[in-house]
Amino acid sequence: MTNRSITGKTVLIAGGGKNLGGLIARDFAAHGAKAIVVHFNSAATQAAAAETVAAVKAAGADAIAIQADLTSANAMEDLFAKATAAFGRPDIAINTVGKVLKKPLTETTEAEFDEMSAVNSKTAFFFLKEAGKAVNDNGAVCTLVTSLLGAFTPFYATYAGTKAPVEHFTRAASKEFGARGISVTAIGPGPMDTSFFYGQETPEAQAYHKSAAALSPFSKTGLTDIEDIVPWVRFLVTEGWWMTGQTILVNGGYTTK
Ligand SMILES: NC(=O)c1ccc[n+]([C@@H]2O[C@H](COP(=O)([O-])OP(=O)(O)OC[C@H]3O[C@@H](n4cnc5c(N)ncnc54)[C@H](OP(=O)(O)O)[C@@H]3O)[C@@H](O)[C@H]2O)c1
Repeated sequence: MTNRSITGKTVLIAGGGKNLGGLIARDFAAHGAKAIVVHFNSAATQAAAAETVAAVKAAGADAIAIQADLTSANAMEDLFAKATAAFGRPDIAINTVGKVLKKPLTETTEAEFDEMSAVNSKTAFFFLKEAGKAVNDNGAVCTLVTSLLGAFTPFYATYAGTKAPVEHFTRAASKEFGARGISVTAIGPGPMDTSFFYGQETPEAQAYHKSAAALSPFSKTGLTDIEDIVPWVRFLVTEGWWMTGQTILVNGGYTTK
């Protein structure tokens, strides 16, 4: 019978150095993953990525950090090639890469649109492409999107709009990779208590988001805690493999679709 547990699995995490990705790496190592490739992008994240690698190793798994700006198809191909050279083909590939912009549509520049599109849509597409070639049979792929895919709200046109195509990429990839037993999903968290969220929001908007979910009174800050997303990621790429092709919003009752 196919082993759908995380034990002994090789994992590639794009954006695995810090915040949600860093916690996924630690959690997977604690649950018995064999090796984890921790990708990071910015020089500012290098130290956090090194800490994540050290934490993964301390938990008993092998790990390396790989730096790359993943907004080109070549860079993505190179990341998967380096990951495969280090630990063999991945069983599980997770993409947490993203960039947020909160800005009125009429003030958004062409350069901003192009960058949002590159980081959120293009990167997700080529991650799925390379995952479809590299991931072992009976493996799993998961992309992080946003609960704003279920929202009717201003100012996030480029963020939600450039994450939205991932929902369809996920459907298509799940049909194409299903023949090899590979499960493909996307998870859209609610606003999470990380630096990613705080950079874009005024104190008033933060206060709103901290009270907007049905379960807000029961989380640490009222926002979605990364600790409450990690179990969903782990489940979908292991025993929850039968869920495929779908984008699910995990947010304590913040938005639905
Ligand atoms: N925090 C929230 O409120 C929230 C809510 C819903 C969904 N999400 C989504 O959840 C995911 C993780 O977010 P997070 O809160 O954990 O924040 P985060 O740590 O800032 O995650 C974003 C990741 O994207 C990477 N990245 C950005 N530009 C890149 C590029 N050009 N090439 C390669 N990697 C690049 C960053 O790497 P570097 O730091 O090394 O540049 C970082 O690892 C994101 O996809 C985000 O859209 C976040």
